[in-house]
Amino acid sequence: MLKVETQAESSFFSSRSLEQTNDIGQQIARQLVFPSCVYLHGDMGAGKTTLTKSIIQAFGYEGAVTSPTYNLVQEYPVDQGIIYHMDLYRLEDPSEIEFLAVDDMWSERSLFLIEWPARAAGYLQKADCEIFISKASDKPQDTRDITLKLSS
Ligand SMILES: Nc1ncnc2c1ncn2[C@@H]1O[C@H](COP(=O)(O)OP(=O)(O)O)[C@@H](O)[C@H]1O
Ligand SMILES: [Mg+2]
Repeated sequence: MLKVETQAESSFFSSRSLEQTNDIGQQIARQLVFPSCVYLHGDMGAGKTTLTKSIIQAFGYEGAVTSPTYNLVQEYPVDQGIIYHMDLYRLEDPSEIEFLAVDDMWSERSLFLIEWPARAAGYLQKADCEIFISKASDKPQDTRDITLKLSS
């Protein structure tokens, strides 16, 4: 079982491969509802984009999912609405997010999946849930710990 433990507001998953991370993405997608704002936390290379891809695909999107590192936001239409995948790593100042007009993207049919939300601190809406991904240095290379935390 990939899912290790569930507490009131959190689920902990342990992945040992890309394939397991994809399964975890599908399990997480089943817990997400539209509209939601999800923050993804973790170092560079932790697996935020990889997990996001599997979440987007779990909602039925069949085209290519690419990292929005350069354009900051990428949109994916799915049956339930529109998934907006943002990667804010390249923001130099939080106020730069205003150019993206994120408020205009938000509706009852939106799902925000936001990497590096701290780069826009003070300018983003609160998260409905947060995902934390980490690569344990004392474990095999492809091992990842993934926590899903619902905001109270
Ligand atoms: N179990 C795993 N889960 C997720 N990614 C993994 C795993 N094992 C290896 N990787 C690799 O780690 C890298 C994660 O990169 P990426 O998803 O772009 O990270 P981030 O978006 O957090 O910077 C990819 O090259 C991926 O193939
Ligand atoms: Mg990324």
